[in-house]
Amino acid sequence: MADGVAQISPRPRARVRAMMEYHPPLGSRDRLRLDFNENTLACSPKVGEALKAVTTAELTLYPAREPVEAIVAARLGLKPEQAALTNGVDEAIHVLFESFLEAGDELLLPVPTYTMYEVYASATEARVVAVQADDDLAFPFEKLLDAIGPRTKIIAVANPNSPSGSVATRAQLLELSARAPQAILLVDEAYFHFYGETVMDLVGQAPNLIVARTFSKAYGLAGLRLGLLAGPVELMQWVRRVLSPYSVNSLALVCLKAALDDDTYLDGYVSEVLAARDEFANALDAAGVRRWPSRANFILVEIGARHAEFVERMRAAGVLVRDRSRDPGCEGRVRITIGTREQMKQAALALNEALAAMRQGGNAQ
Ligand SMILES: Cc1ncc(COP(=O)(O)O)c(C=O)c1O
Repeated sequence: MADGVAQISPRPRARVRAMMEYHPPLGSRDRLRLDFNENTLACSPKVGEALKAVTTAELTLYPAREPVEAIVAARLGLKPEQAALTNGVDEAIHVLFESFLEAGDELLLPVPTYTMYEVYASATEARVVAVQADDDLAFPFEKLLDAIGPRTKIIAVANPNSPSGSVATRAQLLELSARAPQAILLVDEAYFHFYGETVMDLVGQAPNLIVARTFSKAYGLAGLRLGLLAGPVELMQWVRRVLSPYSVNSLALVCLKAALDDDTYLDGYVSEVLAARDEFANALDAAGVRRWPSRANFILVEIGARHAEFVERMRAAGVLVRDRSRDPGCEGRVRITIGTREQMKQAALALNEALAAMRQGGNAQ
């Protein structure tokens, strides 16, 4: 460095320096992908056709979100101003937290839950108040009610929750919303299609309710990054100020329109997963593996102290599963995404073989 030039690099904000790093273990995934709760097959073929029809001239244009936003809003019974498309629900969470959380505020979080709530909250000046679920991992409703205070600004509830698969009832969500009028109740319905119950119809009625949906799971569009945030206009106007007008790219918008036109594909995929979930739950019971009841496209299972070995053995057998041991209260637990019945037969076989080998005290390598 030249003489006289100070050797200091610009310092990020204190909260950013303290942030935890989050590296999803993506790596090489050319196996059966039961690790990220994705669609394990493909999205609708109509999406592929729409993608092929995009011209290079169209790519010169900045993406226009509003027309597709209006279509999605209409389908969900919302006014266009109540709905915002985002670059995945992750961006929705990020923008919502950036818009509302400030110093002294509290984010109330039942845990274990989706990791990114805490990641994005940690970049704000707010404090995370984590409410631990009991061993059954049921929604800790009473404890959450007790934890509501004057500084509670957002309550984030994934419904169904990940990694547990547990759900909060509509009545519980309504009560939370009523008991914390000073706060936003974010209900993240990323796994809605596998559950079937929603509070989307209450958007605009409950003044502090915001609902998120993703197109990454049942729709099979995780690679395109498409999410939706829906809430009363009074709240969404602030979110829109922070949200980039172009964060949802034009290919994603084209594909979303096509995906919305193919309910048959969506329904077919969801019913396949639900059938596979039942079959795989039976296989787990037969294998004597403890599991938590799930209303989503994954099941959390108890493996115990040798969880890392189990995950490695599954990988060696061609099946990727997700170790959730680092989640609060989840030591020794592994989350397995549900794919098709065929895929879950392969997973059950691999699981039985891994457990048998571990019982014999075999080496993981
Ligand atoms: C509860 C929950 N919300 C949101 C997401 C992320 O959604 P997206 O891919 O739209 O960012 C996930 C992904 O695993 C999730 O489990």
